[in-house]
Amino acid sequence: TYVVTDNCIRCKYTDCVEVCPVDCFYEGENFLVIHPDECIDCGVCEPECPAEAIKPDTEPGLDKWLKINAEYASIWPNITVKKEPMAEAKELDGETGKFEKYFS
Ligand code: SF4
Ligand code: F3S
Repeated sequence: TYVVTDNCIRCKYTDCVEVCPVDCFYEGENFLVIHPDECIDCGVCEPECPAEAIKPDTEPGLDKWLKINAEYASIWPNITVKKEPMAEAKELDGETGKFEKYFS
């Protein structure tokens, strides 16, 4: 599966949702997640994210993000249509530790 990681938080560009062939993105207030059981590993979304927040879970160190994606995908509503990025998207693009700062 692919997972959405830290840099999506408070950016939420949403380019990713339009290209997913199985519509497996789910939307929270501050960021998006991928449903790990629905993702077919096609990889199309990865290069679409301007924040480079989408990664294959085969990359090391992404266990935490896999858990976060799985947990919230089961709670949040599905999103399939692109919308405006968050107001602070450009300003916060590239900031580290967003999950700790803005989410938890
Ligand atoms: Fe959707 Fe493919 Fe991205 Fe998985 S890898 S979330 S199936 S676009
Ligand atoms: Fe987030 Fe990138 Fe999609 S910032 S909403 S994962 S395009």
